[in-house]
Amino acid sequence: MQKRNPVTTSDLKKAKAEKRPIAMITAYDYPSAKLVDEAGVDCILVGDSLGMVVLGYDSTIPVTMEDMIHHTKAVTRGTKTAFVVADMPFLSYHGTVEEAVKNAGRLMQEGLAKAVKIEGGQEIIPVVKRCTQAGIPVMGHLGLTPQSVHQMGGYKVQGKDIEAALQLIEDAKALEAAGACAVVLECVPAEVAQKVTDSINIPTIGIGAGVGCDGQVLVFHDVLSYASSIRPKFVKTYGNIGAMITEAVSSYVMEVKTRRFPASEHTFAASEETIQQLYGEGVTR
Ligand code: KIV
Repeated sequence: MQKRNPVTTSDLKKAKAEKRPIAMITAYDYPSAKLVDEAGVDCILVGDSLGMVVLGYDSTIPVTMEDMIHHTKAVTRGTKTAFVVADMPFLSYHGTVEEAVKNAGRLMQEGLAKAVKIEGGQEIIPVVKRCTQAGIPVMGHLGLTPQSVHQMGGYKVQGKDIEAALQLIEDAKALEAAGACAVVLECVPAEVAQKVTDSINIPTIGIGAGVGCDGQVLVFHDVLSYASSIRPKFVKTYGNIGAMITEAVSSYVMEVKTRRFPASEHTFAASEETIQQLYGEGVTR
């Protein structure tokens, strides 16, 4: 494969201007980052979805700054080219603006992320402004914002009526004005997402927001059917890694239990002399 230059915020903006779709996927550790980077994604999101697909929680709310830093470090070690964005977890940006900037800075300084993603609209504008002034690129996240699942009353499509649609457009414009480098639009009707996309000059990255967005993002475990139990309408699976793992590991279990593994090619042999000494007659100890 041709060597690629590391993707930057300018590349993302240029991609929008030139109408070249941006491919983004989540990754949470070294091997997944290495594989998706080699596969040619433009951006990797260390999503707080790791709380659900990696750590087994039933929402993203229990995810901590320490979890995010730990996983971001592993992802950036596995990435050569993709633009790595790390999620700001629940309540890490709701205290003072200074605390929020400090937390965002940790994801960059310790995790080596290139940008952070923050859920919300008007209410996070002061944080977006300060982060941007401090040299921390911010990706916004509008529509279904999973950290507010309990306030929203479940994982539901957002921006369906005209007021909510106009609010999304306003929020996206405010994020752009505050310096955001891109905006994720999650679970938004395609026509609304298209209008948001046309209203701003920074890229929109859709998940369940139709083909009119400037890019798309999906969760690694959903794309690969890797032990992901829920399958929202907007997910397309491109592989069945979960079934491959179960099949391979059950073969391993069966071969261990029937002594077919390890075979001679997986086994080290002692020298004839040692064998004689170990097993030969008269050896006692
Ligand atoms: O945490 C995550 O994976 C996300 C995507 C669903 C956009 O925020």
